[in-house]
Amino acid sequence: MIYELFAKIYSRLRLIKSNAIALIYQMLPGIWFRKMGRNCCFYGVPRFGYAFRDIRLGDSCSLGVGVFLNTGANSQIKIGSNVGINDYVYISAIYGIEIGDYSRIGEFVSIRDNDHRFSDPHRPICSQGFTGKPIKIGSDVWIGRGVFIGKGVEIGDGAVIGANSVVTKSIPSFAVAVGSPAKVIKYRQKSVETVAI
Ligand SMILES: CC(C)(COP(=O)(O)OP(=O)(O)OC[C@H]1O[C@@H](n2cnc3c(N)ncnc32)[C@H](O)[C@@H]1OP(=O)(O)O)[C@@H](O)C(=O)NCCC(=O)NCCS
Repeated sequence: MIYELFAKIYSRLRLIKSNAIALIYQMLPGIWFRKMGRNCCFYGVPRFGYAFRDIRLGDSCSLGVGVFLNTGANSQIKIGSNVGINDYVYISAIYGIEIGDYSRIGEFVSIRDNDHRFSDPHRPICSQGFTGKPIKIGSDVWIGRGVFIGKGVEIGDGAVIGANSVVTKSIPSFAVAVGSPAKVIKYRQKSVETVAI
């Protein structure tokens, strides 16, 4: 009984702290987020590659601990409303990354729209620049923990990506895709038992 009470108080305090962290970012318009919606909740202090970049966050989003958002000088990260981003998610956009409303991103996910160029074997890879294409993740997409999503990938609305998958090609709407490389194993549909009469 007493433990339940402590648990309730702890979770309430945690929520107050998370809302307060988000509020601080909202009070710094333009520095970290070009646009930030209302009622967001940050469980940790997000990290950014650079300040004054084009990162947009909708309403009622939650960001876990250790989230890293990195944007190039001319690119944008656009996150819709009601998006949940779990702990230690890394989003790196040189070309542009968009995540639709109600999507869920599991912990340790890496979304990167760019790769190092490496064609010249006689020069260090880190001196050869980048290549890439924008990434678009639709609405109500569920991305399992540990997933990698690479350059040019489009994930359609309502798709599910299984844990630890490596997504290098686009995935259609409402597909369930798993593995490395991620392949569609089925499509979401209501089972006969759950159809409302
Ligand atoms: C994909 C997932 C949602 C399961 O969906 P499901 O419809 O119940 O699928 P099933 O469990 O029936 O699996 C179907 C097949 O895909 C395989 N599979 C499921 N998840 C897989 C994964 N992540 N990687 C590789 N294969 C996977 C199963 O082994 C099974 O293979 P089989 O047909 O050869 O037996 C689940 O496995 C998963 O990855 N969940 C992510 C959980 C998570 O990361 N949460 C983070 C919090 S946001």
